[in-house]
Amino acid sequence: DWVMRDHIAEAVEKIRAQVGDEEVILGLSGGVDSSVAAALIHRAIGDQLTCVFVDHGLLRLNEGDMVMDMFAGKLHAKVVRVDASALFLGELAGVSDPEQKRKIIGRLFVEVFKAEAAKLTASGASKQGAKWLAQGTIYPDVIESGGAKSKKAVTIKSHHNVGGLPEQLGLKLLEPLRDLFKDEVRELGVALGLPHDMVYRHPFPGPGLGVRILGEVKKDYADLLRRADAIFIEELRSTIEPNSGKSWYDLTSQAFTVFLPVKSVGVMGDGRTYDYVVALRAVQTSDFMTADWAELPYSLLKRVSGRIINEVRGINRVTYDVSSKPPATIEWE
Ligand code: XMP
Repeated sequence: DWVMRDHIAEAVEKIRAQVGDEEVILGLSGGVDSSVAAALIHRAIGDQLTCVFVDHGLLRLNEGDMVMDMFAGKLHAKVVRVDASALFLGELAGVSDPEQKRKIIGRLFVEVFKAEAAKLTASGASKQGAKWLAQGTIYPDVIESGGAKSKKAVTIKSHHNVGGLPEQLGLKLLEPLRDLFKDEVRELGVALGLPHDMVYRHPFPGPGLGVRILGEVKKDYADLLRRADAIFIEELRSTIEPNSGKSWYDLTSQAFTVFLPVKSVGVMGDGRTYDYVVALRAVQTSDFMTADWAELPYSLLKRVSGRIINEVRGINRVTYDVSSKPPATIEWE
């Protein structure tokens, strides 16, 4: 539409004026904010932008490839994908405390990103090296950093809108979404040509599947969880609630699968199984501070559980989490 086209033109001009012919680095996570920031900056300055996508190995099924297909493939943006999964899984081995896991993931994420950014700022990578660090900071983030924060909020911040990083890297900060609310960022994303499904995604925590595998994180667990979660999300997307005409994905604020590292007995054919358990979690909320568990139709739950147990060898039991927040949190860790 009109207003949005004007807005894009204005934002593009502003970025060009700010940056001139200098180069920009952006940390791409696959989330809405960094994706829209990347698309907007790319529209403005093309190859002067290099996106750095740190793949910590705790992403959802095919997520890394989808990010690459979209940004490198369709938008023809410069994207460096850093496959750091071995590093992350190595450092996480033997660690089961949730906050400890968050700290390790957050620290490694910053380290890997800094190392990659340092390569791009050093002369040699280009004539002069990058001078700017772009971040997908949005207006609510700006307000939040003024007020009191919980320990978790600090972690969220330090992970996503990496505080102090521009100074450490000697870079100037570019934040083209600073004045926008989330719904405006989404509209902008669609207007820039990003797929609706990407822009209207549920939030995904920075530590990713690291906090959805209870206790110690192992690659085998992550692989099972990815497949089970993909089935749940696929069924939520394809099941339409008749009164609203919306999918159950759109009717929930956040939905995902949690891997429980315990085994339970089951029966398959003539044989006994002794396999892992997953929990499905789906909530409705407006601010994520409180949340109700979603009253998903039994028929949907039945289909999801049937598919997971039949299609994912290694999981023989599916449970549904009927806890609201508070006192439970949305994530299990
Ligand atoms: P809880 O589990 O505290 O989650 O009810 C509230 C919202 O915050 C997200 N979340 C995180 N996001 N890093 C993030 O970037 C984190 O460490 C983190 N922990 C929770 C969670 O997914 C939910 O949307």
